[in-house]
Amino acid sequence: ASSQDVSGALLDWYDAHARDLPWRSLPGSPPPDPYRVWLSEVMLQQTTVAAVKSYFAKFTDRWPTVEALAAADEGEVMAAWAGLGYYARARNLLACARAVADSGGKFPSSEPGLRALPGLGAYTAAAVAAIAFGQRAVVVDANVERVVSRLFFVTEPLPGARAAIRRHADAITPSTRAGDFAQAMMDLGATICTPRAPRCLLCPLSSSCAARASGEAERFPVKAPK
Ligand code: ADE
Repeated sequence: ASSQDVSGALLDWYDAHARDLPWRSLPGSPPPDPYRVWLSEVMLQQTTVAAVKSYFAKFTDRWPTVEALAAADEGEVMAAWAGLGYYARARNLLACARAVADSGGKFPSSEPGLRALPGLGAYTAAAVAAIAFGQRAVVVDANVERVVSRLFFVTEPLPGARAAIRRHADAITPSTRAGDFAQAMMDLGATICTPRAPRCLLCPLSSSCAARASGEAERFPVKAPK
């Protein structure tokens, strides 16, 4: 199957099955507010979707814009973050909000511009560029690593396999609907291409999936022995 077949099948699946999450816009519609995309992506690092929902609502009610968050006291933000863990994220969140507010209140739209903000790593910069700005960025989190390693039968163990996984992910990333594509990969990994007992019968990519053909999807991603 060609890379367009793969991205086309995945986007069709997303049109029908996208999870309805408070920081998203509907598939195929204009992107959501970059502030909301950035805030959700920072919260979703190391925290589940289910746990993030109430925190996302609390933060966006209290601080509806990046300028409002930038004007908050650090103590208030830390208190609102309590329970989400990894408190360096909350400190970086505020530093980033202040940097954006200081430069006119608009998030940069390019991956390198986003990457230059405090606390924005490669993943978050790519996710915001794709989801909030429609840029073609290669967005790879643990869900995407699992989907791609199965699709392309990447037998090299993690972490060494990351370069190959990124190349394969790049090859199937379309130049339109990049944000929907990134979120479709994440949803597929979270709901169908799960670590254990993947639901290959429901998967829009099963006919292209090398691991599925081998009957060994669960083996991937291969991990180096500890
Ligand atoms: N995990 C991290 N970012 C996500 C997103 N935008 N949608 C679903 N799961 C995610």
